Amino acid sequence: MYQLKINNLSEQEFLSHFWQKKPLLIKQGFSDFQDPLDANELAGLAMEESIESRIVTNHNNEWDTYQGPFEDFEKLTDENATLLVQAVDHWHPEAAQLLEPFRFIPNWRIDDLMISYSTPSGGVGPHLDQYDVFIIQGEGKRHWRVGLPDPTLKQFAQNKKLLQVEAFEAVIDCILEPGDILYIPPGCPHEGYALENALNYSVGFRAPNQQDLLSSFADHIIDTETGQERYTDHNLMLRKSKGELNSTEVNKIKTLMQRLLENDTLFKQWLGTTLSQPKHEMDLAPTEDPFTTEQITNALNNSTIVLERLGGTRAIYQLFEDELLLSVNGENYSLLLSDLNAVKLLTDHGEFESSELSLIKPSLVFLQTFTTLVNEGIWFNTDQG
Ligand code: SIN
Ligand code: CO
Repeated sequence: MYQLKINNLSEQEFLSHFWQKKPLLIKQGFSDFQDPLDANELAGLAMEESIESRIVTNHNNEWDTYQGPFEDFEKLTDENATLLVQAVDHWHPEAAQLLEPFRFIPNWRIDDLMISYSTPSGGVGPHLDQYDVFIIQGEGKRHWRVGLPDPTLKQFAQNKKLLQVEAFEAVIDCILEPGDILYIPPGCPHEGYALENALNYSVGFRAPNQQDLLSSFADHIIDTETGQERYTDHNLMLRKSKGELNSTEVNKIKTLMQRLLENDTLFKQWLGTTLSQPKHEMDLAPTEDPFTTEQITNALNNSTIVLERLGGTRAIYQLFEDELLLSVNGENYSLLLSDLNAVKLLTDHGEFESSELSLIKPSLVFLQTFTTLVNEGIWFNTDQG
């Protein structure tokens, strides 16, 4: 639906020269851009308990942040205000389409679609993000400035909920018009202020740090009751100083921990669950009368239906020597290597036609897994509910 054109660059040229390296202004990345929603619809989402939203205002150089859900929008003043709504792709299928053109980047790196609506002079102020982002201009115009990473730039809290950065020098200073896109790598300071009522769509990415990874790995070994091997010292020798923790002991402890990380099956199982875990709530509607695998198989073989994937679904796979591990929204499913093409229909596409799957002739294990996913409401057919 949305066709992305990155100036005159191929996707590979963009990755080689700009991704994680330099900010880029993409004029008319989407030509004839049509907004998938309007400000009223966005406000409606910001009234929902399960959707994360906030309003940021900057009246007379004073910054204030208000956390949603909102019962009214009196704080969203006619000027100097921005409403921001997280993970709109989880709730709004048309808005979720905006992520599709960016799926040339590995899907586990894609996080969510944040949408903001700003009134003239509204913005969140100068700041840094830890993640890559594509900011798409929808309705209206916004003045953006983007700088290069600078470790001397000081960050400070404008208020408890708003981290900003001091004044920076811009390498991009532009007015975004509908369909224009800004690519901003992690750590590049940026600020954008609306010139007229403006909608902005931020395609955000995730990149775990060591802290996230190790704490999630620790949770996984507790959940799966693994990692029980204990420190031993059968060959303990009497030593002069009883207070020393010597280097042999330090290394033995390090090896004990490394052995756990080197357990390939455990590592990949954990990685599948953690990287496919959505960070925001999902709009899940499990089937009331669960389908049997036979019913799903018959439906796939005997009718042409479109199977859609629920917005915000994170589906990835890893290839092992003797099996394929599919991970969907934090759950792992062991499948046969011969089901690779069937799995790709689930992981590489937002939707597919039933005939594409039945032609592949998936295994019974795959069909059982797919039945579970349909019953959970993760894949569905809108015609049949
Ligand atoms: C915004 O849309 O106001 C914020 C987007 C960003 O700076 O990441
Ligand atoms: Co930002």
